[in-house]
Amino acid sequence: MRIGVLTSGGDCPGLNAVIRSVVHRAVADHGDEVIGFHDGWKGLLECDYRTLDLDAVGGILARGGTILGSSRVQPAHLRDGVERAKGHVADLRLDAIIPIGGEGTLKAAHLLSEAGLPIVGVPKTIDNDIASTDVTFGFDTAVGVATEALDRLKTTAESHQRVLIVEVMGRHTGWIALHSGMAAGAHAIVVPERPFDIDELTEVVGKRFSAGKRFAIVVVAEGAKPREGSMAWDEGGKDIYGHERFAGVARQLSVELEERLGKEARPVILGHVQRGGTPTAYDRVLATRFGWHAVEAAHRREFGMLTALRGTDIVMVPLGEAVQTLKTVPADRYAEAECVL
Ligand code: F6P
Repeated sequence: MRIGVLTSGGDCPGLNAVIRSVVHRAVADHGDEVIGFHDGWKGLLECDYRTLDLDAVGGILARGGTILGSSRVQPAHLRDGVERAKGHVADLRLDAIIPIGGEGTLKAAHLLSEAGLPIVGVPKTIDNDIASTDVTFGFDTAVGVATEALDRLKTTAESHQRVLIVEVMGRHTGWIALHSGMAAGAHAIVVPERPFDIDELTEVVGKRFSAGKRFAIVVVAEGAKPREGSMAWDEGGKDIYGHERFAGVARQLSVELEERLGKEARPVILGHVQRGGTPTAYDRVLATRFGWHAVEAAHRREFGMLTALRGTDIVMVPLGEAVQTLKTVPADRYAEAECVL
């Protein structure tokens, strides 16, 4: 069998573990040939690839990023994208394509699958918002990075009697904010699923200072917004792909809270540090299992499917189902965290 693999969209710790696992299972166990397309769908559309043998994936299990590179280019961005992809798959005599990616990548994978290409998807995102899988690899690493940062920020916040508003990733969902906030004992957690009320947030933080505490830590997901009319708000506009540009929620909140509380407030934006570096053991294992099962699905010719974690099992889910909705933080999780606004 000839398999093409690619990594598309924002990178994520564990991508290399999937690539390695695909090559090990396909080449070493099945005697397949594997090629890796460079920079996501762009590599497939431009026929830019390299052969991946066992040597090519040596020593990459613990490495962050992706040895193949990534981009946000999607076949649908090009007028002839789907036809070009089909032509290159035929020219390269590929029996299966394994795209590893998040929401946008899986939508493109679904489109190509509907157009007849033999696709087995692997979900990835630090945001943990793919509905069809209980967990995506990268999430555990990102939560660990954010939690360590919050632990560190507590000591400097206390020294200076400040309010620190820590912005974590999560464009549409608050999973990283919720988990890192719970793990680090944040005093308030703000998530996109629940627009915040600035009066309520001011009260929560103010009460801490009134009770004699010297600092407060607010964790906020980058996609969080205030309730309609709650405070003046700059939306941030759109980027060149039409995605919402970040509004800078930590910056806007720090200005507002400082004025309302009369306490020094500072925004801290963790940004891409949450996506970089070595994956945790959990993420390496999940990524490795996804890679293994993707190859097995390809050999069963189970195309148009996606690997997913359900409980402790890896199952195959139709791509069409996977791209329907995002997995948001359910309301019953807020009560457990106590401090979700
Ligand atoms: O991969 C998802 C994500 O990490 C989001 O949380 C974030 O909004 C986005 O990527 C940022 O991506 P980039 O700046 O690399 O385009």
